[in-house]
Amino acid sequence: MDENVSGQIEALRTPDLATAASPRHPLAPLTPAEITAVVAAVRADPAFGPALGSASDLGVFFETIELLEPSKTTLREWRGDGAIMRAARANVFRNEEQGVWQLTVTLDPPAVATRQFVAGARPMIQLEQFIAIEEIVRTDPAFIAACAERGITDMSLVCVDPWSAGNFGLPDEDGLHLSHTFCWLRTRENDNLYAHPIGGLNVVVDIKRGKVLRIDDHGVLPVPMAEINYESQFRDSFRPPLKPLDVVQAEGASFDLQGHAITWDKWSLVIGFNAREAITLHDIRYDDRSVVHRASLAEMVVPYGSPEPGHARKNVFDIGEYGLGKLANSLKLGCDCLGHIAYLDAHLTTMTGEIYTIENAICIHEEDSGVLWKHWDFRTDRAEIRRGRRLVISCICTVGNYEYASYWYFRQDGAIEFEMKATGVINTTACIPGKPSRYGTEVAPGVEGHIHQHAFCARLDMAVDGECNSVVECDTEAVPPGPDNPYGNAFFLTEHTLHTESEGARRADPAKQRFWKVINSHALNHVGRPVGYKLEPRNVITSFLSPDGPSGHRTAFMRNHLWVTAYDPEERYPAGNFMNHSSGDEGLVKFIAQDRGIEDADIVLWHVFGLHHPVRPEDFPVQPCISTGFMLMPNGFFDQNPALDLPPDTNRASKRHGASSCCHG
Ligand code: CO
Repeated sequence: MDENVSGQIEALRTPDLATAASPRHPLAPLTPAEITAVVAAVRADPAFGPALGSASDLGVFFETIELLEPSKTTLREWRGDGAIMRAARANVFRNEEQGVWQLTVTLDPPAVATRQFVAGARPMIQLEQFIAIEEIVRTDPAFIAACAERGITDMSLVCVDPWSAGNFGLPDEDGLHLSHTFCWLRTRENDNLYAHPIGGLNVVVDIKRGKVLRIDDHGVLPVPMAEINYESQFRDSFRPPLKPLDVVQAEGASFDLQGHAITWDKWSLVIGFNAREAITLHDIRYDDRSVVHRASLAEMVVPYGSPEPGHARKNVFDIGEYGLGKLANSLKLGCDCLGHIAYLDAHLTTMTGEIYTIENAICIHEEDSGVLWKHWDFRTDRAEIRRGRRLVISCICTVGNYEYASYWYFRQDGAIEFEMKATGVINTTACIPGKPSRYGTEVAPGVEGHIHQHAFCARLDMAVDGECNSVVECDTEAVPPGPDNPYGNAFFLTEHTLHTESEGARRADPAKQRFWKVINSHALNHVGRPVGYKLEPRNVITSFLSPDGPSGHRTAFMRNHLWVTAYDPEERYPAGNFMNHSSGDEGLVKFIAQDRGIEDADIVLWHVFGLHHPVRPEDFPVQPCISTGFMLMPNGFFDQNPALDLPPDTNRASKRHGASSCCHG
């Protein structure tokens, strides 16, 4: 989109013509009424409506419709006079042309404001296409024949997962929008299909034409037929249940949720949501001091390590190629979420422009987080203890076989934590029993799970006490033994300011205990130092992909653990805007080629972290949550422990275990 779009939209800024459906905050996601208005505006535009003379032509399909977030300037003005400007981004595509239209749409009045055609771009694979792809494969005569060769005749039990195809330079795939599928078998209804991989059989589907392009039959492997299930219906017995552990908040929760704006303890923020990133958080403040302007999980990719036929293509961008938000679960009270819960629904759109609502998509609640601080003075036998509590904002998204559960935690000491829990079912393939490849682990006889990684990239548009921030790299150094270090114990912290984007591409260095600090040199704390927040790279991973390979080239963002860029609202995704079949030339590598200054500037941090996952037998048939994430922790932002003012309190409901606890006395 051209750089003047924000300006053009702002020229159309009008006071809020409030309707019952209008949101309270300019950063709140689009309402169903607004989405409907966007769809109508696009359909009414002669360039995108039904083709003349064709009653059956629906015109364009919708990839995503989301809020066009107001500029920082507009938000500042809004704080002043309360006027709201609302506009949307819409990505639309046609089956007949290879590319995606990026539109901006005003809502008042509803009209397409700007348009840009990105030739060659492919839209995200849509949820509605998952089932369609499976059906296309299952009904293909050549595929039916390949299954028959493997002794499979009941096609209703065959399952096909619609993996993204990557960009492998195969001549017959050039210019198409494809899914490279993997197949499994159920033995009966609800049986765990991933226990029965149909190895060696991949079908390449032309998504837009709705047909099979090619069947890659790499040879017959025995399909493991032992049932290995996790659903309760398949179990005869369960371990004895534990006694109830109830989270009771008799007086309700301590947060105040007004539409999508939430305040809790000293925190305030706005909760957004879109089809691609799922949860987005905005205008995060502590005690009304700004910390982060916008935070989201902007991309993730899952590279697999096997070079074997078919499997070498497994390198999925679950956010950029599918959209995590559209795959969010409708959460269940008492199961996904424990305690006193507030939910927000997510309103998205189908390909054909109908409202697609995920009820209870975002879970908001409080948790006890253990002791926050304590000291016992042994001389006086006096102890001061404060328990901490945290606000949790979360959602769970299912991408094919895997679940990704995102948790944002806000702590009373000013720290913000992000945790990603991965669960669900590992991707499986068939192997000769007892002889897995060196690229995998045999998790059950004849069932292999390949080594892989889950690389995540958080986009953190920082605003530590304002927009002008810098990043300081902090390493710890030992002093060489000598006159300055007579006992060999000396070590100290060094600080190095990162000046330019090329200098801002950094890797973690555990040998130097490296971390990064986002500082504001215009705001000093009580010892005269710039206020700051530190980012500790606690969960970094190293990519094993060759940078020159087709997957390695597209996962360039994985090569560093921190990237710092000058703020540009159109630089949103670290591997590029359109990830299906992407060339790998877009994203962070291109952003930093501008080599803009990042010192004392409005900057964005891109933190890459992840899970290194050599599969364990215990990850099957359903994987216990494995966890990764990062923390933003105040570092000189406050003059002292900001949680000193927590009132002393004792939880009266707590009881001693033992005989007396049974007497309720
Ligand atoms: Co995994």
